[in-house]
Amino acid sequence: MRKKIFAANWKMNLGPTAAAGFIREFRERWTPNDAEVVFFPSALAFAAVRDAAGDPCPFKLGVQNVYTVDSGAFTGENSAPMAKDAGAHYVLVGHSERRHVFGETDAECAAKCAIVERSGLTPLLCVGETLEERNSGHARDVVTRQLREGLSRLDQPERAASVLAYEPVWCIGSGKHATPRDASEIHGVLRTVLRSLVGDRADSVRILYGGSASPDNAAELLAAEDVDGLLVGGASLKVDSWLSICAS
Ligand code: PGA
Repeated sequence: MRKKIFAANWKMNLGPTAAAGFIREFRERWTPNDAEVVFFPSALAFAAVRDAAGDPCPFKLGVQNVYTVDSGAFTGENSAPMAKDAGAHYVLVGHSERRHVFGETDAECAAKCAIVERSGLTPLLCVGETLEERNSGHARDVVTRQLREGLSRLDQPERAASVLAYEPVWCIGSGKHATPRDASEIHGVLRTVLRSLVGDRADSVRILYGGSASPDNAAELLAAEDVDGLLVGGASLKVDSWLSICAS
């Protein structure tokens, strides 16, 4: 059995004050179950979230992005060792907004996954096709390429490639979610590719679905084969809807 993950990707929302308030309210009202809950706050809100979460922290924390090297003259960037030092467990790599708004390539995603692994953190590589790619029948090829290339520089893929997310670009923030069947199909493709890379360890990799997941569709998406959790943007920004998703 793969432990389910509910991951909140807050993107560029909720500054330190709002984020800490969210966490305090969430902790008070949340009934932990056997799923893992993860928050990806903005880098500036990370410490506030960690402090509000308490010690021991009942959930895991991650950062939304890191640069491809450990330190140096890269104004504005954050590094994987800094994320580790701050208390992160996960790092999102290759989110579609990084790929499509900031032009990140598969090669950069590979370098980021590698440095995240070497820093002792877990990369959460995101893959997903655009609507055009889906409509032209290329969804499987696109996610296969993104997955293979993203993991290509890991020292120990069988250990570091433990979580992935499938996020069809046309579903993100659009209010349209993939059908459970479409999600299952692509998750199955990803697991097959993983099997060719890490053998039987592929069965323990958790593959999250992301893209307009909400309290209304969380249960049906989670019931789909090979869907091991959700990566949620918009619906993770309100305590009520996030609690309801985490209870799905
Ligand atoms: P959304 O975003 O839930 O707002 O569609 C998901 C994501 O981008 O991770």
